[in-house]
Amino acid sequence: MKRIGVLTAGGDAPGMNAAIRSVVRCALSAKLEVFGIFRGWQGLIDDEVKPLDHRSVSGIINLGGTILKTARSAEFKTEDGQKQAYQTIKKYAIDGLIVIGGDGSFRGAHSFGARYNLPCIGIPASIDNDINGIDSTIGLDTAINTALYAIDNIRDTATSMERIFVVEVMGRDSGYIALQTALAGGCEDVIIPERAFDLAKACHEIVEGNIRGKISWIIVSAEGAASAPDIAAKISQLTSLEARAVVLGHIQRGGRPTAASRSLALRLGEAAVECLLKGESDKAVAVTNGEVISVGLEQALVRKDLKVEQAYALIKKMT
Ligand code: F6P
Repeated sequence: MKRIGVLTAGGDAPGMNAAIRSVVRCALSAKLEVFGIFRGWQGLIDDEVKPLDHRSVSGIINLGGTILKTARSAEFKTEDGQKQAYQTIKKYAIDGLIVIGGDGSFRGAHSFGARYNLPCIGIPASIDNDINGIDSTIGLDTAINTALYAIDNIRDTATSMERIFVVEVMGRDSGYIALQTALAGGCEDVIIPERAFDLAKACHEIVEGNIRGKISWIIVSAEGAASAPDIAAKISQLTSLEARAVVLGHIQRGGRPTAASRSLALRLGEAAVECLLKGESDKAVAVTNGEVISVGLEQALVRKDLKVEQAYALIKKMT
């Protein structure tokens, strides 16, 4: 292993820059040459490659987004796209690849690595925390705290004006951010893709609570489960109480990474380089129960069990 490539793919996540910095500096100190591949898998197809040195990653540990840019590449999912991407790997004589991203990026690494016998190591970075067998993805902690900041602000106005709020957070296929934000924000209910939501029952609870003197509610919805404006309109209609909707959207994807997101990124960057040096391949590095481990990419891509019922029961116990 003499030359490695590093790329970020899929949705950006706060802490990706800290991970790039860790990969570059750990690889350089192991006397490896490092090439940055810009715009994810698409950049590999389009030959957007530049060497990275110590200074290339200065002053980025505190920045959200990714200096390597990122993209979702439909072309890379095709055999022709991967063939083209492999020409770039050969051109720069890259011996191993570090892929920083979520489940889509890992799927790409798994098939590309197998097709061309190229060692690929994944670093889980996505606000969705949808990688199986690991505690947390890089960026998750930052995204939850961003959503929580918004919920805390919304609570002030919800209480003052005695209203119901439905707050939509990110998560097309995963309710993790919604569940954790609802728990930490003391929210009354949560709507997630992994669990059926009974709107009539929720409205009944609101009306009953209102009779007992409860004046405000915050319900969190994951984008993949329900649209906040639709739910707010239905709640207003069914309860005759005032409901408003807030869609947080991409606000959760940006911003300064928290200490937890940064330190996870530093540890996983180092671990990914060590995996390549040890000759490992087709793995994702992760911190589980405090320890740095590696899991097979295939296992990492199995649908994660979010222990939804446990978390939901706790949310309801608190209301
Ligand atoms: O990166 C994950 C994520 O933020 C999901 O939570 C969300 O559903 C999706 O990306 C949005 O993707 P895009 O930014 O491409 O619209």
